[in-house]
Amino acid sequence: MNETLRGLIETLAERRRLLLEEYERLIRERTPDAAELLASLAVKERKRIYGDAVYTRGLLEISNICKNDCLYCGIRKSNTHCERYRLTPEQIVSCAAEGYALGFRTFVLQGGEDAYFTDGVLCGVVTEIKSRFPDCAVTLSMGERSRESYQRLFDAGADRYLLRHETADMAHYQKLHPPEMSFENRMRCLYDLREIGYQVGCGFMVGSPYQTEKELAQDLKFIETFRPDMCGIGPFIPHKNTPFRDFPAGTLELTCYLLSIIRLIYPSVLLPATTALGTIHPLGRERGIQAGANVVMPNLSPVSVRKQYELYDGKICTGEESAQCRGCLQRRMDAVGYRIVTDRGDIRKDTG
Ligand code: 5AD
Ligand code: FES
Repeated sequence: MNETLRGLIETLAERRRLLLEEYERLIRERTPDAAELLASLAVKERKRIYGDAVYTRGLLEISNICKNDCLYCGIRKSNTHCERYRLTPEQIVSCAAEGYALGFRTFVLQGGEDAYFTDGVLCGVVTEIKSRFPDCAVTLSMGERSRESYQRLFDAGADRYLLRHETADMAHYQKLHPPEMSFENRMRCLYDLREIGYQVGCGFMVGSPYQTEKELAQDLKFIETFRPDMCGIGPFIPHKNTPFRDFPAGTLELTCYLLSIIRLIYPSVLLPATTALGTIHPLGRERGIQAGANVVMPNLSPVSVRKQYELYDGKICTGEESAQCRGCLQRRMDAVGYRIVTDRGDIRKDTG
């Protein structure tokens, strides 16, 4: 790698920030040896804070009904080929109970923006899970809602909220979403969630249509300033029934490169090695962990609906029972020298 690149990596590791143009250059001029250096520094930081622990969260995909029409997403409302489902509150709680028996102490309830899940219904589910399993953290990932709604869900016991910002560039955001959706509202949601007291996760897709190094640099700047508790990044993967069907998928290589950079920007951040990463490469999640990620999210949804929560083509983990999915990830993490932990997995303080 050239001296400038090495210098940028050293500055990043020391100061935990770069200028926008510097991030852009770090991405554009990347080389395999730069990736290796970044990964080794990122793993060192993660080990300093989390040791060899990899946190798990049980993922429950509670509905694929969505009023939105994001151009990249397989469950967008215009996809008439998508077979729709929603779990009942009883089914959701029973999946959580199954997960609890498997040792999970944190659940992520994720779904499309489905009008059925009013504050009343969703608060009921959260309250029930929290009262039956008080030692668990409940994370919601149910899209954009009003501040009042986020407040009610928080008061019902929700601890965390995941809402990917998708891209930190407003013009790019508009290219990925229909005109009814706005970047301002997305950001409003994230800042509301933070102010209410949630642990907040944001994130973006790597290699989404029209994304260049410039947009990625903005994503990194956003993470540097917003400092989310969690940041979910995974490759964009085209879905055959969306307008983006012919765009190429993002790469393992660039996703891992960005995971390492994010770890260095914010050493204690929770970084999942996502299902999308495991989908584009058979060892994608392992590589993600080796680049600096520290969270995996096995699927606990009922097998009967798994295939229907198809955000992108070829999604993995759609045929396996919860216990199999967990076992599979456990073996995978063991194989690369990490240890799965099932506690709440709260973000740790960086005391170094
Ligand atoms: N490829 C990769 N990730 C996707 N998501 C939605 N559609 C795709 C796709 N085609 C991601 C979005 C969303 C999260 C739940 O899944 O970033 O926020
Ligand atoms: Fe789900 Fe391997 S992690 S089947």
